[in-house]
Amino acid sequence: MTSRIADAQRRSLHEPEAFWGEAAREIDWYEAPEQVLDASNAPFYRWFRGGKLNTCHNALDRHADGPRGEQAALIYDSPVTNQVRKYSFRELRDLTARFAGVLAAHGVGRGDRVIVYMPMIPEAVIAMLACARLGAVHSVVFGGFAAPELATRIDDAQPTLIVSASCGIESTRVIPYKPLLDEALSLAKHRPRACIIKQRPQISAELAMGRDFDWDSETARVAAQPCVPVDATDPLYILYTSGTTGQPKGVVRDNGGHAVAMQWTMRHFYNVAPGEVFWAASDVGWVVGHSYIVYAPLINGNTTVLYEGKPVGTPDAGAFWRVIAQHRVCSLFTAPTAFRAIKKEDPEGKLLRGHDLSCLRALFLAGERSDPATLAWAETQLKVPVVDHWWQTETGWAIVGNCLGIEPLPVKHGSPTVAVPGWDVRVLDDAGHEVPAGTTGSLVAKLPLPPGTLSTLWNADERFLDAYLREFPGFYKTADAGYIDADGYVYVMARTDDIINVAGHRLSTGAMEEVLAGHPDVAECAVFGMADDLKGEVPLGLLVLRDGARHGAERVVSEVVQRVRDTIGPVAAFKHALVVKRLPKTRSGKILRGTMKKIADGQPYKLPATIDDPSVLDEIAVALRPLTDALKPRA
Ligand code: COA
Ligand code: AMP
Repeated sequence: MTSRIADAQRRSLHEPEAFWGEAAREIDWYEAPEQVLDASNAPFYRWFRGGKLNTCHNALDRHADGPRGEQAALIYDSPVTNQVRKYSFRELRDLTARFAGVLAAHGVGRGDRVIVYMPMIPEAVIAMLACARLGAVHSVVFGGFAAPELATRIDDAQPTLIVSASCGIESTRVIPYKPLLDEALSLAKHRPRACIIKQRPQISAELAMGRDFDWDSETARVAAQPCVPVDATDPLYILYTSGTTGQPKGVVRDNGGHAVAMQWTMRHFYNVAPGEVFWAASDVGWVVGHSYIVYAPLINGNTTVLYEGKPVGTPDAGAFWRVIAQHRVCSLFTAPTAFRAIKKEDPEGKLLRGHDLSCLRALFLAGERSDPATLAWAETQLKVPVVDHWWQTETGWAIVGNCLGIEPLPVKHGSPTVAVPGWDVRVLDDAGHEVPAGTTGSLVAKLPLPPGTLSTLWNADERFLDAYLREFPGFYKTADAGYIDADGYVYVMARTDDIINVAGHRLSTGAMEEVLAGHPDVAECAVFGMADDLKGEVPLGLLVLRDGARHGAERVVSEVVQRVRDTIGPVAAFKHALVVKRLPKTRSGKILRGTMKKIADGQPYKLPATIDDPSVLDEIAVALRPLTDALKPRA
């Protein structure tokens, strides 16, 4: 490669301070950074040490007080409540400054944590930005998690305040949020000082006297708050993501590196100019929502779309086309699952025809592997570049992808193309040696990681080192496996840990196993991801019952399904479990989940050399057959 993208990659890796120092000039600083990259405490690298800034100022005030003041900053499009509402930069800044007043009135200051458990309403964005305004640290919890997951996050983040709403709306169902919050608070040891609740017209939540306060009345009684300058290295947010146990990892993002990376990627990766309309059809509870619904588009002076709906059913598979045409969206970012759902309902793209999509320049897909068939379908229907890009909650932005803002490269279906500037991606074998092109191994990134990536795990530096940095010294372990071809194209094939990807949502099978194992009749269990045409993967649980179990298989299965829903949440989409006599194991007792997954997916598998009793695999195949036949009828 002797191209613009190769030059940018070279500069970013060989002269990172010059490269990112230049990028940092696009951000407003109260005090310029003294040092671009501080490696004095490696492997804990810090970006822009000495710099002082405010992320909310960069996202709102600098536009609100300039020529973009009346430009729409946010378009709230909610087919589930039948409304569209636009907020200018000035309006969004004023509402945010007011809500920062509410936070301050309840004692929230710089460094304090605030948990945001909200549906996709403008108040969720306002709450996040209001935290940033005060230098407080938000931790947004996705609405599809159950009360115990919320409780775990409350105990880990120790928030001063919790911000929530009376309900969320899932297609046509109204989901009361307040009972979930109340239950989480009863489970958690930590007590926040207060909860601020946005009452929605669909449900009015009961407020506990002295603890819960109404969003609207609180906002009416306070004064607006200015932006508080914070250190570039101060945390902006904690975002919990699935780890290999029931205890989620609190990914910490700083202010300075994050702002620089967000600004840089909008221009150079997504190729979006200030003033244009950008739409990330995700949820503010996920990293995509943090980075590309809220921070990056606003920092870059774009209009962002906050969509409270689904790709299908709100009202139909033409919903995305309606939103693009109505708001003149130039770039759409979503998960491949959304396109699989649309394709399933409207395979010929008939619903697309009535809409003027001439504004759309590109579709970006991430969150899970883009299967070539879905990618090709999207290209045919939309006739714009479809850009698969690979990233993680930890990285905050793309590791590998086609930088449309620098130089689009030819696409090879199945690969998100090449490493984005800032990323030195390698493939290592188990002993940590680099493997030749085309050989599969662990995908890693050479340290230091670029700005905007995780600085540590919340209150867990040791876990940060263990989870990401110790196995391959000098590298960040992505926990994805894959290979790089002779042209430098990266192929991301599978996770190396127990994480599965269900409808673009990251879930730990280990956490599900913990829930299953807690059932009194379950002696042993295994959960693994089974291929699914719509969601990519869905979890499947196999259970061995205890001798003398109190209940029969059917009852235990329905109870464990309910337990996962109540403990982890509906988002786990755990709907299938089977009782079997035994689980296949190695002689040392390791359960052969990978082999069972291959059987469930109808793929060929090798008999593991260390298997204890091969006949168990035949039993599993027989037990799985009725379920897999029902889910995926063979032609
Ligand atoms: N609050 C409460 N419940 C929620 C929720 C929320 N914010 N989000 C999802 N749920 C519930 C759903 O209602 C569903 O419940 P059910 O089992 O009672 O039906 C369950 O969690 C699973 O949700 P989901 O995986 O979204 O499945 P779905 O069948 O409702 O929709 C798709 C399927 C494909 C339309 C949907 O998954 C989708 O739009 N995916 C796009 C992926 C995406 O945005 N990923 C984000 C990362 S980029
Ligand atoms: P999350 O942290 O929820 O964003 O999930 C990150 C994980 O999703 C990655 O580690 C991958 O396993 C998977 N993933 C995300 N984007 C892609 C992609 N473009 N191709 C393949 N896998 C992806």
